[in-house]
Amino acid sequence: MDTPTPDFAKTPLSDEDLGKPLTYSTEAFLSRDYAKDEADLLWSKVWQMAGRLEDIQAAGDFITYEIGGESVIILRRDADTIKAFYNVCPHRGRQLISVPKDQNGVRGNIKKRFICGFHGWNFDLDGKNCYVLDPQDWQGALTEERTSLSPVKVDFWGGFIYVTLDPHSEPLKDYLGQAGDILAPFEFEKMRYKWRQWVIYPANWKTSLEAFMEPYHVAGTHSQLLKYGNYYAYSKPYGLHGVSGFDERDASLRKEGGTSNTRAGIGADARISTYQLARENYETVNRSSTTLTLVNAAKRLVDELPEGTPSSEVIKHWLASARADDAARGVIWPTITPQQMSEAGLAWSLFPNQSILQGVTSALCYRSRPYGDDPDKCIFEAYALERFPEGEEPKTEWVYAEATAEKWGSVLAQDFANMEFVQNGMKSRGFRGPLPNPHQEQKITNFHRQRAKYMRRGAPRLL
Ligand code: FES
Ligand SMILES: [Fe+2]
Repeated sequence: MDTPTPDFAKTPLSDEDLGKPLTYSTEAFLSRDYAKDEADLLWSKVWQMAGRLEDIQAAGDFITYEIGGESVIILRRDADTIKAFYNVCPHRGRQLISVPKDQNGVRGNIKKRFICGFHGWNFDLDGKNCYVLDPQDWQGALTEERTSLSPVKVDFWGGFIYVTLDPHSEPLKDYLGQAGDILAPFEFEKMRYKWRQWVIYPANWKTSLEAFMEPYHVAGTHSQLLKYGNYYAYSKPYGLHGVSGFDERDASLRKEGGTSNTRAGIGADARISTYQLARENYETVNRSSTTLTLVNAAKRLVDELPEGTPSSEVIKHWLASARADDAARGVIWPTITPQQMSEAGLAWSLFPNQSILQGVTSALCYRSRPYGDDPDKCIFEAYALERFPEGEEPKTEWVYAEATAEKWGSVLAQDFANMEFVQNGMKSRGFRGPLPNPHQEQKITNFHRQRAKYMRRGAPRLL
């Protein structure tokens, strides 16, 4: 009998195909078997963002990262070395660091040794066993290989820590590819958490993540924002990853740099509309997606510039004065050329589950992960990064926050009000499968194209 050909192999979609009408099956969102297979075929293969370096600054600091039934310990061994190990004792398999189910990972410091709580085996900061009670009972079988912690590959980019459970994976730099280069000028490594929140949310991790992959939903979901800005968007793939940015329906109206978050609002007077847009974003997206410096500098535009200043001049003046304000308080902006700004667009999805909406000195980020093998639940996180004057970085921890406007701001609450009902709606016999927008939702279709390669099934197909 012939081995069935995986469907992705029959229809390998090109980048160009993503611009055409297509669909894909809902199995990836709804099936428990699919969720189980993701642990083996996807989560054990990809590079994934596991945390931020700022959480492990001192020697001995560690965090744990949980994914697909696995837990990984990421440890700062000393100033120059970071190590990662599977969070399991080689004796009888106790988690070395206990990770309670209601906690978003564990953070701590190990002075010299990990000590297993069950029979007291010890491990040094290189993961090597350094104490066993009654080793003679094993009659010489306790080799270093058998008693050391199992290592995990770890690397860094932009202040983020990445791990992969695949010892044969390509280097992180190659995995990030062009996306890593295009985002490098934003210097995320110089930003720090401003706030970070998580929730166990009733939708698949992909359903949740996709609610933040495209601005096409702004008109339908965040209609209050249409008073301040246009939200027509492009989106496109960069290998595994993808970007979206603001666009014009009429291509002749495209402006340099106009794809990013620092843009003029709509309205005849750009001095006023720019302020209104920046303020609205800041106030309703949980004090993120822009900075207070930018909002305050925008507020002064009407006093500092004459009526009738063209919008390109308004933006130039706005950015220059915000840059000077920040410099005065010790926050130095990175150098990002208008071309780099344009190419970087508005927001990125780094495969599989990292989402970054970047600004010159800030970023609004999302991550979602499966919740066990339940396809109807996920661990959803949002966090804001920002550049702070040295010594003024806030101390933050993961805060569990129910999905309400009070806890997350009115814009994220509007997104939460969809995700759960997308998950429910997709189960309907009356649903024929998604019809993603070929121009504005390519980030999503590219995600599914890439996801299907790992999963060997469920690839998008042209209509
Ligand atoms: S399980 Fe760790 S020492 Fe026994
Ligand atoms: Fe949204």
